[in-house]
Amino acid sequence: MIAPSILAADFSKLGELVREVTKAGADRIHVDVMDGHFVPNLSMGAVVVEGLRPVTTVPLEVHLMVEDPGRFLDGFVKAGADTLIVHLEVLPDPRPMVEHIKKALGKKVGLAFNPDMPVERIEPYLKDIDLALCMTVFPGFGGQAFIPESLERLRKLKALTAVHNPACEIEVDGGIGAKTIAGCAAAGANVFVAGSAVFGAKQGPAAATKDLIALAK
Ligand code: DX5
Ligand code: ZN
Repeated sequence: MIAPSILAADFSKLGELVREVTKAGADRIHVDVMDGHFVPNLSMGAVVVEGLRPVTTVPLEVHLMVEDPGRFLDGFVKAGADTLIVHLEVLPDPRPMVEHIKKALGKKVGLAFNPDMPVERIEPYLKDIDLALCMTVFPGFGGQAFIPESLERLRKLKALTAVHNPACEIEVDGGIGAKTIAGCAAAGANVFVAGSAVFGAKQGPAAATKDLIALAK
């Protein structure tokens, strides 16, 4: 599954570009939310999800790179988010929030973790989540280079999900493109976030989306 990250899109044409990648076969749209604290950058809030909701039929997944995700969940759900992804780094015990997102809000839940977090830290929660997001760059900016050690981490994560929850999706985010996607797929990933490789592609976002879909198979 391909999840174009709109962070790399030309915001003056956001609706048009999201329509284009949807038509090209994107499986979901990835919305990167940054608060300037958890990561050294600011990006967008729930108004962007609200604006995009009528534009696409595919799920909108919200990647919350924020220090205090609990404050923002309701707003994103009201705006039309389908999946809420929160970072393990800011949740000493993620279980109450995972439970809240699934049961009270009725949405899919993902847990993300940075390249310096031991993969084993996610193990106790795998059985309760829909998606594990293995960051393949340090979050904060689009267009960074894929960290090669991520492949070994993906293999570990795949082995852990096989034991605890084979249905749990394994998502990669950061530096994913034509050169890195097949390796990630072979290492166990099945959802691929791509920002610059889609919206910055020479061949245009629709062709790039189709190319990535073919390469991920
Ligand atoms: C990283 C974000 C990513 C980013 C990916 O901080 O979480 O989703 O937009 O961008 P690329 O694909 O350009 O590395
Ligand atoms: Zn992201």
